[in-house]
Amino acid sequence: MESLIELKDVYYRYQEQEDEDWVLENIDLEITAGEFIAIVGHNGSGKSTLAKLLNGILLPTQGEVRVGGKVTTEQEDLWQLRQQLGIVFQNPDNQLVANIVEEDVAFGPENLGLPSAEIRKRVDEALRLVGMTDFARAAPHKLSGGQKQRVAIAGVIAMRPDCLVFDEPTAMLDPQGRQEVVETVEHLNRQEGLTVIYITHFMEEIINADRILVFADGKVELAATPKELFTKVDKLRDLALDIPQITELAYQLSESGLDIDTNIFTSTELVEELCLLK
Ligand SMILES: Nc1ncnc2c1ncn2[C@@H]1O[C@H](COP(=O)(O)OP(=O)(O)OP(=O)(O)O)[C@@H](O)[C@H]1O
Ligand SMILES: [Mg+2]
Repeated sequence: MESLIELKDVYYRYQEQEDEDWVLENIDLEITAGEFIAIVGHNGSGKSTLAKLLNGILLPTQGEVRVGGKVTTEQEDLWQLRQQLGIVFQNPDNQLVANIVEEDVAFGPENLGLPSAEIRKRVDEALRLVGMTDFARAAPHKLSGGQKQRVAIAGVIAMRPDCLVFDEPTAMLDPQGRQEVVETVEHLNRQEGLTVIYITHFMEEIINADRILVFADGKVELAATPKELFTKVDKLRDLALDIPQITELAYQLSESGLDIDTNIFTSTELVEELCLLK
């Protein structure tokens, strides 16, 4: 199948860094429509830079980035490319612009100059998809962090993108808000078929990803499924990355002599495994 997103031998460094190491180096990446790709990596490993390269906020110093066949350096295509690939950032407060939820979600479609009936349709649909229909007339500043972030997601969805890029969307949220956002993202990927690129520091959030890319020093250090990755406990420690708590617990129990599988990601799996012990 043809890739929706393609990075060919991409190198990047910020302008003021001419004599320094690359921020991103030799990135080759193909992402197929409908995939859920997670990206993890230590602070400063280049994850946010990659996100910005994907929609042409930044342009590669070398190499090329394509979305739906369109290359980000082609100025005339950039407008369309940005509708196709939307980005959701960390801080929901910086992403909300209006005083009423539905007006906020309508902001993008309005800028497209769409007829008002079409805008109405898109806003209703987007709010439904993130489970915020009941808050259409609410004031964003009165919402919880998780709800605000879902409104921000709705604003991007109202542009009818094929692909959503999330750059640590839960970093500023409480556990409840984190869960709401993760469930929304999974729903959009599974039920709506949106391609998802999800950057996070929380391993628990990406146990259902199709692939996890581990960035280290501007390179893709590892690419694996969650199952493959989380069992490399020592390797993850080397890369200063967390392991899902349950997997860590299973690993510790196994290290201390219990005969249990360490390939475990949920508390249910761990309980089942423990019940098998004689
Ligand atoms: N605007 C900028 N100008 C100069 N250097 C920058 C700029 N933005 C980021 N950098 C540098 O580029 C490198 C990669 O930064 P980036 O923000 O992409 O990392 P990250 O993986 O997203 O980190 P974090 O996990 O902290 O969000 C870092 O060394 C950072 O200091
Ligand atoms: Mg970042």
